[in-house]
Amino acid sequence: MKQDIVLVLDLGSEENTRIARAIRGLGVYSEIHPHDLSAAEIGGMGNVKGIILNGGRNNIVDGAAIDISPEVAGMGLPVLAVCHTGVRPRDMERFSDDDAALARELESFVFGVCGAERNWNMRNFIHDQVELVRREVGDGRVLLALSGGVDSSVVAALLLRAIGGRLECVHVNHGLMRKGESEQVLEVFRNRLKANLTYVDAGERFLSRLSGVGDPERKRKIIGEEFIRVFEEEAERFDGIEFLAQGTIYPDIVESGTKTAKTVKSHHNVGGLPMDMKMKLVEPIKQLFKDEVRECGLELGLPRSMVFRQPFPGPGLGVRCLGAITPERLEALRESDAVLREEFEAAGYDTKVWQYFTVIPEFKSVGVREGVRSFDYPVIIRAVNTVDAMTASVERLPWELLDRITDRVLSEVKGVNRVLYDISPKPPATIEWE
Ligand code: XMP
Repeated sequence: MKQDIVLVLDLGSEENTRIARAIRGLGVYSEIHPHDLSAAEIGGMGNVKGIILNGGRNNIVDGAAIDISPEVAGMGLPVLAVCHTGVRPRDMERFSDDDAALARELESFVFGVCGAERNWNMRNFIHDQVELVRREVGDGRVLLALSGGVDSSVVAALLLRAIGGRLECVHVNHGLMRKGESEQVLEVFRNRLKANLTYVDAGERFLSRLSGVGDPERKRKIIGEEFIRVFEEEAERFDGIEFLAQGTIYPDIVESGTKTAKTVKSHHNVGGLPMDMKMKLVEPIKQLFKDEVRECGLELGLPRSMVFRQPFPGPGLGVRCLGAITPERLEALRESDAVLREEFEAAGYDTKVWQYFTVIPEFKSVGVREGVRSFDYPVIIRAVNTVDAMTASVERLPWELLDRITDRVLSEVKGVNRVLYDISPKPPATIEWE
């Protein structure tokens, strides 16, 4: 099916994403492109119903006129010019800052002026992508690094629907996953969805490469490089695979707020995997925003716990086991994180707080247990809220919840004798400790 499209042409506004999302929220597909998109490119897209020319704080200077090229104007599509500055150039709309009002304003343009139809929804999206992938891949096979994160999981589920047994998933367990995570990947994809899944237990290998390395940047680099090495080794076993799937999503390819009005940046290598593998890329969710990726996952039947998984850094627990990682501290970290997650779920805080985890530093402190002196590590709790991860504020957790977590951590986790709560916002702290 060919869906209607309303294009957002960007002149450096930070609001493109908000507008495109609002249009999709109305059930009409919308994409963001640089303002100098040619008539031929627009013509090649199918059912373009209208154009929103989006100025914004960066580019609209006092009353200056902006316009589309005469060639694009010649296509006769309805155009809505928008500005977000207080200064309103002649003949330009200014959208409301309130999201509901924005949706209403767009509604009258999209339906009233452009005559677009509400034919964008997740079911249609999946249907179209399945068709597209089948056409793209033909009889070929596709390799996917399945981390268990939301994006790669949704890609796996979508590709399974499209090409079934011709998808080869590789899950590399770097030994820095949270408790139960790799097991869930195996359970969902291998047992339930019957995917071809190669499980690589590389925990020992990563730990030995990281042994004695305390510098956070070195640790990250080692984990990243080792991951690629392990994946490449596995990929060699699948001789003759011509496609590599990636969980690239829309925010990865759209960069809003650029000064140059060139909004689409190069997005190769997004998943950190090397492009010299000479495989063609398959990126079936690259048009979706994060919340749409989740909706897509639910529609494809993935469990909620996988689809609504909180963000987890690529280097995993490696950046939360501070300094040189040791198996004992890593184990205490994994166990304390599991306790924290259980208690957050039980209290309904798992859906309330954006990201929450534990951290274990390298230093020890003195304590006493059953009359005997102890010298053990502290566990640090972190629970933050953010919109874009650029700034973050600390969740004011109820004392009772902190009490419960503390009790459980101190009685269930070995090698730990204190629990601390990190109440530092970002900035000046970061969300992670390394
Ligand atoms: P910071 O610590 O910089 O983190 O405030 C911001 C957000 O990014 C996540 N993060 C990462 N995600 N690979 C990732 O995929 C990484 O190396 C990485 N480092 C930090 C972090 O968990 C937080 O959500």
